[in-house]
Amino acid sequence: MNEELEKLEANAVAAIQAADSNSELQDVKVRFLGKKGEIGKQMATLKEMPHSQRKAFGKALNELKGRLINATEEKKKELEEKALKKKISAESLDITLPGFRFPTGRLHPLTRVWHEITDVFIAMGFDVVEGPEIETEWYNFEALNLHSEHPARDEQDSFYLGENRLLRTQTSPVQIRVMEKMGAPPVQIVAPGRVFRRDATDASHSPVFHQIEGLVVDKDITMGHLKATLEAFNKEIFGKDILSRFRPDYFPFTEPSCEVAISCIICGGEGCGLCKRTGWIEILGAGMVHPQVLKNAGFDPKKYSGFAFGIGIDRVAMLKYSIDDIRLLYENDMRFLKQF
Ligand code: DAH
Repeated sequence: MNEELEKLEANAVAAIQAADSNSELQDVKVRFLGKKGEIGKQMATLKEMPHSQRKAFGKALNELKGRLINATEEKKKELEEKALKKKISAESLDITLPGFRFPTGRLHPLTRVWHEITDVFIAMGFDVVEGPEIETEWYNFEALNLHSEHPARDEQDSFYLGENRLLRTQTSPVQIRVMEKMGAPPVQIVAPGRVFRRDATDASHSPVFHQIEGLVVDKDITMGHLKATLEAFNKEIFGKDILSRFRPDYFPFTEPSCEVAISCIICGGEGCGLCKRTGWIEILGAGMVHPQVLKNAGFDPKKYSGFAFGIGIDRVAMLKYSIDDIRLLYENDMRFLKQF
């Protein structure tokens, strides 16, 4: 092979190797192997060549052409492989990367405790009902033996919306509504909900708070049923080692009435700051439904008896989660709420 062809081959191989993409390779191919390419130009010289050289030169030229075609084919494959590898690595998933959490909502501590408390009563066979937040004086006061001279009826304590319409100050009116609606025992309900009082706001008072009312009415219901139910409730909510204490109290709508306390959840009864050194924490009011209240709702107190109770949901939430200021439950500060 003559020097010129050797040079041509060296140039062509270098150009093929240098091609970095398919289109560059295509250009190189045209330059050397195309119709007017370098090889073609050499072919054209064959005609003028003396016959003695023509055969050898033609052979060398054809062999060279073959080698260059092979080299471009090989380069093409190499470029394709390289492109594929690049694509695969760009698309690959690194499953070892740490994930990220989607922000999720959560239940307000009051809602959680509300559910927890109702679940305990549902398990004991109670139905859950709700009554209106706007009440009349009859349901909120009179039917519950809170007569017009009663200090609790002081307008200072209630939000009136006009004559004879007020925001309920307690969930007890639901007792009357349920008995009226059912018409006859047995009644076994709890009624959770919001209540409203015109209290000055401080760490333990809020104008809006939550209660859950309980009412059981049937033949032969006794204080024993009341004690067993509330003792079981206290253990379910605060732990099985919790003791319950029942002491006489007064509510106009129950007779006899009692105040229920649990052994202190912090000190267990020894005396500490939370229980004010008494060992006990008052958590609810209860009693046997006053005969007049049964009558007011259309039930015959000679045939039926019942017990009722009222639990502060906020108070239970504050005890369960060691919250020392009721306002935290209403300010919707995310730094506080995110802890639950
Ligand atoms: N309604 C009472 C209050 O708001 C709580 C209460 C006490 C409800 C005794 C009752 C009960 O049903 O028997 O303070």
